[in-house]
Amino acid sequence: MINSAPIRSVLVCEQKQSEALQLRASLGNSADRDVLLENPDAIELSIEQIAGGNVFVVESDGLIVGFAAIVPRADGDSELDALFVEPEKWRHGIALMLITHCQDAARQRGSKTIYAIGNPHAKDFYSAVGFNLVGTTQTRFGVGLLFCLAVDCNHPRVNTSYAADRKTPPAQL
Ligand SMILES: CC(C)(COP(=O)(O)OP(=O)(O)OC[C@H]1O[C@@H](n2cnc3c(N)ncnc32)[C@H](O)[C@@H]1OP(=O)(O)O)[C@@H](O)C(=O)NCCC(=O)NCCS
Repeated sequence: MINSAPIRSVLVCEQKQSEALQLRASLGNSADRDVLLENPDAIELSIEQIAGGNVFVVESDGLIVGFAAIVPRADGDSELDALFVEPEKWRHGIALMLITHCQDAARQRGSKTIYAIGNPHAKDFYSAVGFNLVGTTQTRFGVGLLFCLAVDCNHPRVNTSYAADRKTPPAQL
């Protein structure tokens, strides 16, 4: 069965629900678990960011199952500031849908490129969804990898729906 999964902007009243999802998704990464438990303030989706209209959610059966956020950069491009999917929905194509939506939103605000900063263990994921590794950058938690994706880059596997019954076991980043 294929369920359609519309993407919309998150509502202010969904802040806590979204942060709880972020925590579950982040704890699903064994490599991030310890640092996250030591730094719980790293889980934050600010009201300002939500009100800015650039936080997007995917819903399934009335529940948020993933969200992504972009923020503007000083050079006019955009940064992927958040990308989290409910662990039990991993590997259903939800992140890919959200990235495609972020590309559209970034394009509409005049960006040519979306940048993302990821942990080294996320390299395979970012490569799989079309990002190129362009360097490294210092983050609060150490050295991060800097990836970029052209807003007009079409991923061949992007769909506007996801396979609700897909049972591929989630891989650890
Ligand atoms: C990373 C994350 C957003 C992926 O979400 P998702 O909805 O499962 O991703 P998709 O189903 O759209 O995956 C698209 C492709 O990316 C690749 N991919 C997805 N998860 C991967 C993983 N854990 N490791 C390596 N590649 C991965 C695969 O090629 C996948 O296609 P396939 O399933 O047909 O093989 C999700 O695992 C998550 O929320 N993780 C915790 C937070 C996080 O790490 N966020 C961003 C990275 S710093």
